[in-house]
Amino acid sequence: AGGKTDGARGLRFTPVAPNTADQVTIPSGYAQNVVIRWGDPILRGAPDFNPDKQTAKAQAGQFGYNTDFLSLLPLKGERGRQVLVANHEYTDEILMFRGYDSAKPTREQVEIAWAAHGLSVVVVEEDRKSGKLTAVTRHQLNRRLTVTSEFKLTGPAAGSDLLRTSADRTGSKVFGTLNNCAGGTTPWGTTLHGEENFNQYFANGSSDTDKRYGISTTASERKWELFDKRFDLKQEPNEAHRFGWVVELDPYDPDFTPRKRTALGRFKHEAAQPRLTADGRPVVYMGDDERFDYLYKFVSSKQMKKGDSRAAHEHNLTLLDEGTLYVAKLTGDSPAGEIDGTGKLPNDGEFDGSGVWIPLATGDVSHVPGMTADEVYVFTRLAGDKVGATKMDRPEDVEPSPRTGRVYVALTNNTDRGKAGKAGADEANPRNANKHGHILELAENWDDPAGDGFAWRLFLVAGDPNDPATYFAGFPKDKVSPISCPDNVAFDPHGNLWIATDGNALGVHDGLFGVATQGDRRGELKQFLTMPNGAETCGPIVQDRRVLVAVQHPGEVDGASVEKPASAWPDGPGKIVRPSVVSVWRKDGSDIGV
Ligand code: FEO
Ligand code: CA
Ligand code: CA
Ligand code: CA
Repeated sequence: AGGKTDGARGLRFTPVAPNTADQVTIPSGYAQNVVIRWGDPILRGAPDFNPDKQTAKAQAGQFGYNTDFLSLLPLKGERGRQVLVANHEYTDEILMFRGYDSAKPTREQVEIAWAAHGLSVVVVEEDRKSGKLTAVTRHQLNRRLTVTSEFKLTGPAAGSDLLRTSADRTGSKVFGTLNNCAGGTTPWGTTLHGEENFNQYFANGSSDTDKRYGISTTASERKWELFDKRFDLKQEPNEAHRFGWVVELDPYDPDFTPRKRTALGRFKHEAAQPRLTADGRPVVYMGDDERFDYLYKFVSSKQMKKGDSRAAHEHNLTLLDEGTLYVAKLTGDSPAGEIDGTGKLPNDGEFDGSGVWIPLATGDVSHVPGMTADEVYVFTRLAGDKVGATKMDRPEDVEPSPRTGRVYVALTNNTDRGKAGKAGADEANPRNANKHGHILELAENWDDPAGDGFAWRLFLVAGDPNDPATYFAGFPKDKVSPISCPDNVAFDPHGNLWIATDGNALGVHDGLFGVATQGDRRGELKQFLTMPNGAETCGPIVQDRRVLVAVQHPGEVDGASVEKPASAWPDGPGKIVRPSVVSVWRKDGSDIGV
Protein backbone atom coordinates (compact mmCIF):
# COMPACT_ATOMS: atom_id res chain seq x y z
CA ALA A 1 0.00 0.00 0.00
CA GLY A 2 1.01 3.63 -0.34
CA GLY A 3 3.24 3.09 -3.34
CA LYS A 4 5.59 0.70 -1.58
CA THR A 5 7.81 -1.42 -3.84
CA ASP A 6 11.12 -3.20 -3.83
CA GLY A 7 14.34 -1.26 -3.33
CA ALA A 8 16.88 0.00 -0.82
CA ARG A 9 15.38 1.41 2.37
CA GLY A 10 14.24 4.95 1.57
CA LEU A 11 13.91 4.15 -2.14
CA ARG A 12 10.93 1.78 -2.10
CA PHE A 13 8.65 3.60 -4.53
CA THR A 14 7.54 2.90 -8.11
CA PRO A 15 9.88 4.94 -10.32
CA VAL A 16 8.31 7.71 -12.37
CA ALA A 17 8.76 7.07 -16.11
CA PRO A 18 10.61 9.72 -18.14
CA ASN A 19 8.03 12.07 -19.70
CA THR A 20 7.33 15.52 -21.11
CA ALA A 21 4.22 16.37 -19.08
CA ASP A 22 3.77 20.01 -18.03
CA GLN A 23 3.46 19.14 -14.35
CA VAL A 24 5.31 17.71 -11.38
CA THR A 25 4.78 13.96 -11.73
CA ILE A 26 5.27 11.94 -8.53
CA PRO A 27 5.08 8.22 -7.69
CA SER A 28 1.71 6.57 -7.03
CA GLY A 29 0.73 6.72 -3.38
CA TYR A 30 2.28 10.18 -2.95
CA ALA A 31 0.72 13.66 -2.76
CA GLN A 32 2.11 17.15 -3.42
CA ASN A 33 1.39 20.82 -2.83
CA VAL A 34 2.92 24.12 -3.88
CA VAL A 35 4.51 25.55 -0.73
CA ILE A 36 5.33 29.03 -2.01
CA ARG A 37 5.46 30.77 -5.38
CA TRP A 38 7.41 33.65 -6.81
CA GLY A 39 5.61 36.80 -5.63
CA ASP A 40 3.82 35.34 -2.60
CA PRO A 41 4.01 37.94 0.19
CA ILE A 42 6.21 36.94 3.14
CA LEU A 43 6.88 40.22 4.93
CA ARG A 44 4.50 42.43 6.88
CA GLY A 45 2.82 44.94 4.57
CA ALA A 46 3.71 43.16 1.32
CA PRO A 47 0.79 42.98 -1.12
CA ASP A 48 -0.56 39.88 -2.83
CA PHE A 49 1.13 39.11 -6.14
CA ASN A 50 -0.33 40.91 -9.12
CA PRO A 51 1.55 40.18 -12.37
CA ASP A 52 0.16 43.32 -13.99
CA LYS A 53 1.02 45.63 -11.09
CA GLN A 54 4.52 44.56 -10.09
CA THR A 55 6.64 47.06 -8.21
CA ALA A 56 10.10 46.84 -6.68
CA LYS A 57 8.64 47.73 -3.29
CA ALA A 58 6.13 44.87 -3.47
CA GLN A 59 8.75 42.39 -4.70
CA ALA A 60 11.08 43.28 -1.83
CA GLY A 61 8.46 41.85 0.56
CA GLN A 62 7.56 38.87 -1.62
CA PHE A 63 9.23 35.52 -2.34
CA GLY A 64 11.89 35.93 -5.04
CA TYR A 65 12.33 34.42 -8.48
CA ASN A 66 13.97 31.17 -9.67
CA THR A 67 14.73 29.35 -6.45
CA ASP A 68 17.75 27.05 -6.49
CA PHE A 69 19.08 25.95 -3.06
CA LEU A 70 16.71 25.19 -0.21
CA SER A 71 17.52 24.55 3.44
CA LEU A 72 15.05 23.57 6.16
CA LEU A 73 16.07 24.30 9.74
CA PRO A 74 14.36 23.40 13.00
CA LEU A 75 12.29 26.04 14.82
CA LYS A 76 12.24 25.39 18.53
CA GLY A 77 9.07 26.06 20.47
CA GLU A 78 6.78 26.30 17.45
CA ARG A 79 5.16 22.93 16.83
CA GLY A 80 5.02 21.70 13.24
CA ARG A 81 7.06 24.65 11.99
CA GLN A 82 10.49 24.90 10.33
CA VAL A 83 12.57 27.70 8.83
CA LEU A 84 12.92 27.54 5.05
CA VAL A 85 15.87 29.39 3.48
CA ALA A 86 15.84 29.81 -0.31
CA ASN A 87 18.26 31.13 -2.95
CA HIS A 88 16.82 33.22 -5.77
CA GLU A 89 19.42 32.66 -8.42
CA TYR A 90 18.38 34.88 -11.31
CA THR A 91 15.48 36.57 -13.08
CA ASP A 92 13.84 35.72 -16.41
CA GLU A 93 12.57 39.17 -17.39
CA ILE A 94 10.95 37.92 -20.60
CA LEU A 95 8.80 35.54 -18.50
CA MET A 96 8.12 38.14 -15.76
CA PHE A 97 7.07 41.29 -17.62
CA ARG A 98 4.47 41.68 -20.33
CA GLY A 99 6.04 43.40 -23.36
CA TYR A 100 9.60 43.24 -21.99
CA ASP A 101 12.12 44.90 -24.33
CA SER A 102 15.59 43.54 -23.54
CA ALA A 103 17.22 46.42 -25.43
CA LYS A 104 15.43 49.00 -23.25
CA PRO A 105 14.47 47.75 -19.80
CA THR A 106 12.72 50.35 -17.61
CA ARG A 107 14.09 51.43 -14.24
CA GLU A 108 11.11 49.82 -12.49
CA GLN A 109 11.74 46.49 -14.26
CA VAL A 110 15.42 46.58 -13.28
CA GLU A 111 14.59 47.43 -9.67
CA ILE A 112 12.02 44.61 -9.55
CA ALA A 113 14.74 42.25 -10.81
CA TRP A 114 17.10 43.50 -8.05
CA ALA A 115 14.39 42.74 -5.48
CA ALA A 116 13.61 39.33 -7.02
CA HIS A 117 17.25 38.20 -6.66
CA GLY A 118 18.91 37.21 -3.38
CA LEU A 119 17.62 35.10 -0.50
CA SER A 120 14.38 34.46 1.34
CA VAL A 121 13.89 33.25 4.89
CA VAL A 122 10.31 32.08 5.46
CA VAL A 123 8.81 29.98 8.22
CA VAL A 124 6.77 27.03 6.95
CA GLU A 125 4.13 24.99 8.74
CA GLU A 126 2.91 21.45 8.28
CA ASP A 127 -0.78 20.62 8.35
CA ARG A 128 -0.84 17.22 10.04
CA LYS A 129 -4.23 16.33 8.60
CA SER A 130 -3.71 17.16 4.93
CA GLY A 131 0.08 16.71 4.83
CA LYS A 132 0.50 20.09 3.13
CA LEU A 133 3.38 22.41 3.90
CA THR A 134 2.51 26.11 3.69
CA ALA A 135 4.28 29.41 4.33
CA VAL A 136 3.62 31.35 7.53
CA THR A 137 3.44 34.85 6.11
CA ARG A 138 4.61 37.73 8.27
CA HIS A 139 6.50 35.55 10.77
CA GLN A 140 9.09 37.60 12.67
CA LEU A 141 11.95 35.51 11.20
CA ASN A 142 10.79 36.01 7.62
CA ARG A 143 13.30 38.04 5.69
CA ARG A 144 14.29 39.09 2.19
CA LEU A 145 17.84 39.89 1.12
CA THR A 146 18.21 41.46 -2.30
CA VAL A 147 20.68 43.23 -4.59
CA THR A 148 20.36 46.33 -2.40
CA SER A 149 20.77 44.69 1.05
CA GLU A 150 23.97 45.16 3.03
CA PHE A 151 26.55 42.34 3.15
CA LYS A 152 29.94 42.27 4.84
CA LEU A 153 33.18 40.93 3.35
CA THR A 154 35.17 39.05 6.01
CA GLY A 155 38.29 36.90 6.19
CA PRO A 156 41.82 37.40 4.87
CA ALA A 157 41.03 39.40 1.72
CA ALA A 158 38.50 41.76 3.34
CA GLY A 159 39.75 45.34 3.13
CA SER A 160 42.17 44.51 0.32
CA ASP A 161 42.79 47.13 -2.36
CA LEU A 162 41.24 44.71 -4.83
CA LEU A 163 37.91 44.98 -3.00
CA ARG A 164 37.70 48.77 -2.54
CA THR A 165 35.42 50.96 -4.62
CA SER A 166 34.59 54.65 -4.76
CA ALA A 167 31.54 53.96 -2.60
CA ASP A 168 33.35 51.69 -0.14
CA ARG A 169 36.87 52.71 0.85
CA THR A 170 36.90 49.97 3.50
CA GLY A 171 36.71 47.11 0.98
CA SER A 172 34.33 45.32 3.31
CA LYS A 173 30.79 46.60 2.78
CA VAL A 174 28.89 45.32 -0.26
CA PHE A 175 25.33 45.85 -1.38
CA GLY A 176 23.70 42.70 -2.64
CA THR A 177 24.27 39.10 -3.44
CA LEU A 178 24.00 37.77 -6.98
CA ASN A 179 23.19 34.50 -8.68
CA ASN A 180 22.93 32.37 -5.56
CA CYS A 181 22.88 28.87 -6.94
CA ALA A 182 23.16 25.95 -4.54
CA GLY A 183 24.47 26.12 -0.98
CA GLY A 184 24.80 24.26 2.27
CA THR A 185 23.70 24.02 5.86
CA THR A 186 26.29 24.18 8.63
CA PRO A 187 26.24 22.12 11.86
CA TRP A 188 26.24 25.44 13.78
CA GLY A 189 22.85 26.51 12.42
CA THR A 190 23.75 28.85 9.56
CA THR A 191 23.32 28.51 5.81
CA LEU A 192 25.83 28.92 3.00
CA HIS A 193 24.98 30.34 -0.41
CA GLY A 194 27.20 30.15 -3.51
CA GLU A 195 27.37 33.23 -5.74
CA GLU A 196 27.66 31.58 -9.15
CA ASN A 197 27.35 33.34 -12.53
CA PHE A 198 27.92 36.85 -11.18
CA ASN A 199 29.77 37.76 -14.37
CA GLN A 200 26.53 38.24 -16.32
CA TYR A 201 25.54 41.35 -14.33
CA PHE A 202 28.59 43.43 -15.19
CA ALA A 203 29.41 45.50 -18.27
CA ASN A 204 32.67 46.69 -19.84
CA GLY A 205 35.14 44.32 -18.22
CA SER A 206 38.64 44.82 -19.51
CA SER A 207 41.24 43.02 -17.35
CA ASP A 208 42.63 39.55 -17.98
CA THR A 209 41.06 38.47 -14.72
CA ASP A 210 37.64 39.78 -15.85
CA LYS A 211 38.13 37.67 -18.97
CA ARG A 212 38.96 34.52 -16.97
CA TYR A 213 35.67 35.00 -15.10
CA GLY A 214 33.69 35.50 -18.34
CA ILE A 215 32.73 39.14 -17.81
CA SER A 216 31.40 40.93 -20.89
CA THR A 217 33.65 43.51 -22.54
CA THR A 218 30.56 45.40 -23.71
CA ALA A 219 27.02 45.87 -22.34
CA SER A 220 25.53 43.33 -19.94
CA GLU A 221 22.49 41.26 -20.86
CA ARG A 222 20.15 42.98 -18.37
CA LYS A 223 21.68 46.49 -18.77
CA TRP A 224 21.70 47.19 -15.05
CA GLU A 225 24.71 49.44 -15.66
CA LEU A 226 22.27 52.02 -17.07
CA PHE A 227 20.66 52.38 -13.63
CA ASP A 228 23.58 51.86 -11.22
CA LYS A 229 27.11 52.73 -12.32
CA ARG A 230 28.65 50.08 -10.08
CA PHE A 231 27.64 47.48 -12.67
CA ASP A 232 29.78 49.33 -15.23
CA LEU A 233 33.35 48.13 -14.65
CA LYS A 234 34.76 51.01 -16.68
CA GLN A 235 33.50 53.27 -13.89
CA GLU A 236 33.91 50.90 -10.95
CA PRO A 237 36.52 48.27 -11.92
CA ASN A 238 36.59 46.47 -8.55
CA GLU A 239 32.85 46.04 -8.06
CA ALA A 240 32.79 42.60 -9.72
CA HIS A 241 35.48 41.45 -7.26
CA ARG A 242 32.89 41.79 -4.53
CA PHE A 243 30.76 39.01 -6.00
CA GLY A 244 31.57 35.34 -6.58
CA TRP A 245 31.87 34.43 -2.90
CA VAL A 246 30.25 32.04 -0.47
CA VAL A 247 27.74 33.91 1.67
CA GLU A 248 26.99 32.82 5.24
CA LEU A 249 23.60 33.73 6.74
CA ASP A 250 22.26 33.28 10.27
CA PRO A 251 18.57 32.68 9.52
CA TYR A 252 17.63 32.84 13.22
CA ASP A 253 18.79 36.46 13.56
CA PRO A 254 16.68 38.82 11.44
CA ASP A 255 19.21 41.62 12.04
CA PHE A 256 22.28 39.62 10.97
CA THR A 257 24.37 41.19 8.22
CA PRO A 258 25.30 38.23 6.01
CA ARG A 259 29.03 37.63 5.48
CA LYS A 260 30.89 37.00 2.25
CA ARG A 261 33.68 34.61 3.28
CA THR A 262 36.82 35.54 1.34
CA ALA A 263 38.82 32.62 2.78
CA LEU A 264 36.74 30.28 0.59
CA GLY A 265 37.94 31.92 -2.62
CA ARG A 266 36.22 33.68 -5.47
CA PHE A 267 34.89 31.71 -8.41
CA LYS A 268 31.52 30.64 -9.82
CA HIS A 269 30.54 29.01 -6.56
CA GLU A 270 27.94 26.38 -7.17
CA ALA A 271 27.52 25.25 -3.58
CA ALA A 272 29.32 24.75 -0.27
CA GLN A 273 28.71 21.88 2.10
CA PRO A 274 30.71 21.35 5.30
CA ARG A 275 31.84 18.19 7.05
CA LEU A 276 33.60 18.24 10.44
CA THR A 277 37.03 16.73 11.10
CA ALA A 278 37.43 14.32 14.03
CA ASP A 279 38.55 17.30 16.15
CA GLY A 280 35.58 19.44 15.09
CA ARG A 281 36.99 21.72 12.39
CA PRO A 282 34.72 22.39 9.41
CA VAL A 283 35.89 21.39 5.95
CA VAL A 284 33.85 22.90 3.10
CA TYR A 285 33.72 21.20 -0.31
CA MET A 286 33.03 23.44 -3.31
CA GLY A 287 32.73 23.28 -7.10
CA ASP A 288 33.35 25.99 -9.70
CA ASP A 289 30.68 25.45 -12.34
CA GLU A 290 32.36 26.16 -15.65
CA ARG A 291 33.62 23.83 -18.33
CA PHE A 292 37.19 22.82 -17.42
CA ASP A 293 37.09 24.45 -13.99
CA TYR A 294 38.03 23.07 -10.62
CA LEU A 295 37.03 21.33 -7.41
CA TYR A 296 38.06 23.01 -4.13
CA LYS A 297 37.96 22.58 -0.38
CA PHE A 298 38.52 24.88 2.56
CA VAL A 299 39.82 23.51 5.86
CA SER A 300 39.19 25.72 8.88
CA SER A 301 41.91 26.06 11.49
CA LYS A 302 39.29 26.52 14.22
CA GLN A 303 37.16 24.01 16.06
CA MET A 304 33.41 24.38 16.24
CA LYS A 305 32.06 25.02 19.73
CA LYS A 306 29.03 23.00 20.74
CA GLY A 307 25.98 24.23 22.62
CA ASP A 308 23.52 27.09 22.32
CA SER A 309 25.44 29.77 24.23
CA ARG A 310 25.89 33.16 22.68
CA ALA A 311 29.68 32.84 23.05
CA ALA A 312 29.70 29.54 21.15
CA HIS A 313 27.57 31.03 18.39
CA GLU A 314 29.77 34.12 18.04
CA HIS A 315 32.83 31.87 17.85
CA ASN A 316 31.24 29.61 15.23
CA LEU A 317 30.53 32.64 13.06
CA THR A 318 34.31 33.04 12.66
CA LEU A 319 35.05 29.43 11.60
CA LEU A 320 35.02 30.20 7.89
CA ASP A 321 37.42 33.12 8.16
CA GLU A 322 40.62 31.24 9.06
CA GLY A 323 42.12 28.21 7.38
CA THR A 324 43.57 26.86 4.15
CA LEU A 325 42.05 26.86 0.68
CA TYR A 326 42.93 23.89 -1.56
CA VAL A 327 42.29 22.87 -5.17
CA ALA A 328 42.07 19.27 -6.43
CA LYS A 329 44.37 17.43 -8.82
CA LEU A 330 43.19 13.97 -9.91
CA THR A 331 45.25 11.20 -11.51
CA GLY A 332 43.80 8.05 -13.08
CA ASP A 333 45.24 4.61 -12.36
CA SER A 334 44.65 3.11 -15.82
CA PRO A 335 47.04 3.64 -18.74
CA ALA A 336 46.09 6.82 -20.61
CA GLY A 337 45.75 4.79 -23.81
CA GLU A 338 42.80 2.92 -22.31
CA ILE A 339 40.80 6.14 -21.89
CA ASP A 340 39.58 6.59 -25.46
CA GLY A 341 37.01 9.35 -24.87
CA THR A 342 33.97 7.16 -25.61
CA GLY A 343 33.26 6.21 -22.01
CA LYS A 344 34.41 2.61 -22.52
CA LEU A 345 35.62 1.26 -19.18
CA PRO A 346 39.38 0.68 -18.93
CA ASN A 347 40.71 -2.86 -18.39
CA ASP A 348 40.62 -2.60 -14.58
CA GLY A 349 36.85 -2.13 -14.91
CA GLU A 350 36.62 1.30 -13.31
CA PHE A 351 37.29 4.96 -13.87
CA ASP A 352 39.27 5.57 -10.69
CA GLY A 353 42.52 6.81 -9.24
CA SER A 354 44.06 9.05 -6.61
CA GLY A 355 44.25 12.75 -5.99
CA VAL A 356 45.96 15.49 -4.05
CA TRP A 357 44.68 18.69 -2.51
CA ILE A 358 47.07 21.46 -3.52
CA PRO A 359 47.17 24.30 -0.96
CA LEU A 360 46.59 27.78 -2.44
CA ALA A 361 46.64 30.05 0.60
CA THR A 362 46.51 29.97 4.39
CA GLY A 363 45.39 33.22 6.01
CA ASP A 364 47.71 35.93 4.70
CA VAL A 365 50.23 33.43 3.30
CA SER A 366 50.09 32.52 -0.38
CA HIS A 367 51.28 29.10 -1.52
CA VAL A 368 51.12 30.07 -5.20
CA PRO A 369 54.34 31.46 -6.72
CA GLY A 370 53.83 34.93 -8.20
CA MET A 371 50.52 35.62 -6.46
CA THR A 372 49.86 37.38 -3.16
CA ALA A 373 47.34 35.86 -0.75
CA ASP A 374 44.82 38.60 -1.64
CA GLU A 375 45.24 37.72 -5.32
CA VAL A 376 44.75 34.02 -4.59
CA TYR A 377 41.43 34.72 -2.85
CA VAL A 378 40.10 37.27 -5.34
CA PHE A 379 41.41 35.54 -8.49
CA THR A 380 41.19 31.95 -7.29
CA ARG A 381 40.67 30.55 -10.78
CA LEU A 382 44.07 31.91 -11.82
CA ALA A 383 45.66 30.31 -8.77
CA GLY A 384 44.14 26.96 -9.80
CA ASP A 385 45.50 27.46 -13.33
CA LYS A 386 49.02 28.12 -11.99
CA VAL A 387 49.23 25.01 -9.82
CA GLY A 388 47.92 22.66 -12.51
CA ALA A 389 44.56 21.69 -10.98
CA THR A 390 42.48 19.13 -12.91
CA LYS A 391 40.06 20.58 -15.43
CA MET A 392 36.65 19.06 -14.66
CA ASP A 393 33.37 18.71 -16.57
CA ARG A 394 31.53 21.54 -14.76
CA PRO A 395 31.61 20.81 -11.03
CA GLU A 396 28.11 21.52 -9.73
CA ASP A 397 26.96 20.50 -6.27
CA VAL A 398 29.44 18.69 -3.99
CA GLU A 399 28.11 16.87 -0.94
CA PRO A 400 29.80 14.71 1.71
CA SER A 401 27.72 11.73 2.85
CA PRO A 402 26.78 12.19 6.50
CA ARG A 403 26.97 8.38 6.84
CA THR A 404 30.28 7.50 5.19
CA GLY A 405 32.10 10.81 4.74
CA ARG A 406 32.57 10.03 1.07
CA VAL A 407 32.16 13.13 -1.05
CA TYR A 408 29.95 13.14 -4.18
CA VAL A 409 30.72 15.59 -6.95
CA ALA A 410 28.08 16.23 -9.65
CA LEU A 411 29.84 16.97 -12.96
CA THR A 412 26.90 18.09 -15.01
CA ASN A 413 28.24 17.92 -18.60
CA ASN A 414 30.90 19.39 -20.87
CA THR A 415 30.18 19.27 -24.57
CA ASP A 416 33.52 21.03 -25.22
CA ARG A 417 35.62 18.17 -23.80
CA GLY A 418 37.93 16.96 -26.56
CA LYS A 419 37.19 19.82 -28.95
CA ALA A 420 40.10 21.34 -30.88
CA GLY A 421 42.28 23.36 -28.53
CA LYS A 422 40.51 22.02 -25.41
CA ALA A 423 41.48 19.31 -22.95
CA GLY A 424 40.58 15.79 -24.05
CA ALA A 425 39.16 12.95 -22.00
CA ASP A 426 41.02 11.78 -18.89
CA GLU A 427 40.06 9.06 -16.43
CA ALA A 428 38.12 11.47 -14.17
CA ASN A 429 36.31 13.04 -17.15
CA PRO A 430 36.29 10.07 -19.53
CA ARG A 431 33.90 11.12 -22.28
CA ASN A 432 34.59 13.62 -25.01
CA ALA A 433 31.60 15.84 -25.92
CA ASN A 434 30.14 14.83 -22.53
CA LYS A 435 26.42 15.57 -22.92
CA HIS A 436 25.03 13.74 -19.89
CA GLY A 437 27.62 14.25 -17.15
CA HIS A 438 28.80 11.98 -14.33
CA ILE A 439 29.14 11.75 -10.57
CA LEU A 440 32.49 11.28 -8.89
CA GLU A 441 32.89 9.68 -5.46
CA LEU A 442 35.85 10.86 -3.40
CA ALA A 443 37.21 9.17 -0.26
CA GLU A 444 39.71 11.17 1.79
CA ASN A 445 42.82 9.23 2.85
CA TRP A 446 42.36 7.80 6.37
CA ASP A 447 38.85 9.29 6.20
CA ASP A 448 40.37 12.61 7.28
CA PRO A 449 38.62 15.51 5.52
CA ALA A 450 41.52 17.81 6.45
CA GLY A 451 44.05 15.55 4.69
CA ASP A 452 45.93 16.34 1.52
CA GLY A 453 45.23 13.16 -0.45
CA PHE A 454 42.27 11.07 -1.55
CA ALA A 455 41.06 8.17 -3.66
CA TRP A 456 38.30 8.66 -6.23
CA ARG A 457 36.13 6.64 -8.57
CA LEU A 458 33.23 7.46 -10.86
CA PHE A 459 29.97 6.45 -9.17
CA LEU A 460 27.66 7.16 -12.11
CA VAL A 461 28.33 7.89 -15.76
CA ALA A 462 24.95 9.32 -16.77
CA GLY A 463 22.78 8.78 -19.84
CA ASP A 464 20.39 6.21 -21.22
CA PRO A 465 21.32 2.89 -19.55
CA ASN A 466 21.06 1.26 -23.00
CA ASP A 467 23.99 3.45 -24.05
CA PRO A 468 27.17 1.42 -23.46
CA ALA A 469 28.96 4.61 -22.38
CA THR A 470 27.03 4.71 -19.08
CA TYR A 471 27.82 3.20 -15.69
CA PHE A 472 25.71 2.87 -12.56
CA ALA A 473 28.30 1.80 -9.95
CA GLY A 474 28.22 -1.66 -11.51
CA PHE A 475 24.49 -2.20 -10.83
CA PRO A 476 22.59 -4.06 -13.61
CA LYS A 477 21.65 -1.39 -16.14
CA ASP A 478 18.30 -2.95 -17.08
CA LYS A 479 17.05 -2.05 -13.59
CA VAL A 480 17.84 1.70 -13.40
CA SER A 481 16.19 4.94 -14.56
CA PRO A 482 17.83 6.97 -17.32
CA ILE A 483 19.43 10.21 -16.05
CA SER A 484 21.13 13.19 -17.68
CA CYS A 485 22.94 16.27 -16.34
CA PRO A 486 23.21 15.76 -12.57
CA ASP A 487 23.28 19.09 -10.73
CA ASN A 488 22.12 19.49 -7.12
CA VAL A 489 22.62 16.55 -4.76
CA ALA A 490 21.41 15.76 -1.22
CA PHE A 491 21.35 12.84 1.22
CA ASP A 492 18.27 11.32 2.84
CA PRO A 493 18.23 10.04 6.44
CA HIS A 494 19.10 6.52 5.18
CA GLY A 495 22.29 7.61 3.43
CA ASN A 496 20.90 7.44 -0.11
CA LEU A 497 22.06 10.09 -2.56
CA TRP A 498 19.34 12.16 -4.25
CA ILE A 499 20.19 13.82 -7.55
CA ALA A 500 18.40 16.73 -9.22
CA THR A 501 19.01 17.28 -12.92
CA ASP A 502 19.31 20.39 -15.08
CA GLY A 503 19.17 20.25 -18.87
CA ASN A 504 18.21 16.65 -19.60
CA ALA A 505 19.75 15.81 -22.99
CA LEU A 506 17.65 12.65 -23.49
CA GLY A 507 14.63 14.53 -24.87
CA VAL A 508 12.56 14.31 -21.68
CA HIS A 509 12.08 16.60 -18.71
CA ASP A 510 14.41 17.07 -15.76
CA GLY A 511 13.74 15.26 -12.52
CA LEU A 512 14.77 14.02 -9.12
CA PHE A 513 16.37 10.62 -8.56
CA GLY A 514 17.41 8.56 -5.56
CA VAL A 515 20.26 6.03 -5.49
CA ALA A 516 21.79 3.82 -2.82
CA THR A 517 25.51 4.46 -2.27
CA GLN A 518 26.16 1.37 -0.10
CA GLY A 519 25.09 -2.25 0.06
CA ASP A 520 24.09 -4.63 -2.70
CA ARG A 521 21.73 -2.07 -4.22
CA ARG A 522 24.51 0.51 -4.65
CA GLY A 523 23.91 2.14 -8.04
CA GLU A 524 20.22 1.26 -8.30
CA LEU A 525 19.01 4.65 -9.51
CA LYS A 526 15.26 5.39 -9.36
CA GLN A 527 13.41 8.44 -10.59
CA PHE A 528 11.16 10.03 -7.94
CA LEU A 529 9.63 12.95 -9.82
CA THR A 530 9.70 14.93 -13.05
CA MET A 531 9.46 18.64 -13.79
CA PRO A 532 7.05 20.79 -15.86
CA ASN A 533 8.05 22.24 -19.27
CA GLY A 534 11.37 24.06 -19.32
CA ALA A 535 12.09 23.63 -15.60
CA GLU A 536 15.23 22.52 -13.79
CA THR A 537 15.00 20.48 -10.59
CA CYS A 538 16.60 22.34 -7.68
CA GLY A 539 17.19 22.40 -3.95
CA PRO A 540 16.19 18.88 -3.08
CA ILE A 541 15.65 18.21 0.61
CA VAL A 542 14.73 14.67 1.64
CA GLN A 543 13.48 14.34 5.19
CA ASP A 544 11.88 11.25 6.78
CA ARG A 545 8.37 12.16 5.71
CA ARG A 546 8.78 14.87 3.11
CA VAL A 547 10.63 15.76 -0.08
CA LEU A 548 11.03 19.40 -1.06
CA VAL A 549 12.09 20.61 -4.50
CA ALA A 550 12.32 23.99 -6.16
CA VAL A 551 10.88 24.09 -9.66
CA GLN A 552 13.29 26.55 -11.23
CA HIS A 553 12.60 28.44 -14.47
CA PRO A 554 9.42 26.63 -15.57
CA GLY A 555 8.51 27.73 -19.11
CA GLU A 556 12.08 28.82 -19.91
CA VAL A 557 12.04 27.67 -23.51
CA ASP A 558 13.49 29.51 -26.52
CA GLY A 559 10.99 32.02 -27.89
CA ALA A 560 8.68 31.91 -24.85
CA SER A 561 7.44 35.10 -23.17
CA VAL A 562 4.60 36.23 -20.90
CA GLU A 563 2.46 36.57 -24.03
CA LYS A 564 3.59 33.21 -25.45
CA PRO A 565 4.03 30.97 -22.40
CA ALA A 566 5.63 27.55 -22.80
CA SER A 567 4.21 26.24 -19.53
CA ALA A 568 0.95 26.62 -17.61
CA TRP A 569 2.52 25.58 -14.32
CA PRO A 570 1.64 26.00 -11.48
CA ASP A 571 -1.62 27.98 -11.76
CA GLY A 572 -3.03 26.71 -15.06
CA PRO A 573 -3.65 28.15 -18.53
CA GLY A 574 -3.95 31.93 -18.79
CA LYS A 575 -1.95 32.53 -15.58
CA ILE A 576 1.66 33.76 -15.51
CA VAL A 577 4.25 31.01 -14.99
CA ARG A 578 5.70 31.15 -11.47
CA PRO A 579 8.83 29.38 -10.22
CA SER A 580 7.76 27.71 -6.96
CA VAL A 581 8.69 25.31 -4.20
CA VAL A 582 6.86 21.97 -4.08
CA SER A 583 6.48 19.52 -1.21
CA VAL A 584 5.80 15.78 -1.67
CA TRP A 585 4.72 13.29 1.01
CA ARG A 586 3.22 9.82 1.39
CA LYS A 587 -0.58 9.80 1.32
CA ASP A 588 -0.65 7.32 4.19
CA GLY A 589 1.63 9.58 6.26
CA SER A 590 4.48 7.07 6.53
CA ASP A 591 8.12 7.69 5.71
CA ILE A 592 9.38 8.36 2.18
CA GLY A 593 10.41 5.15 0.41
CA VAL A 594 10.32 2.71 3.32
FE1 FEO B 1 23.35 27.50 -11.13
FE2 FEO B 1 25.78 25.56 -11.87
O1 FEO B 1 24.03 25.86 -11.65
CA1 CA C 1 41.00 2.62 -13.52
CA1 CA D 1 23.27 24.09 -10.22
CA1 CA E 1 21.97 24.59 -13.00
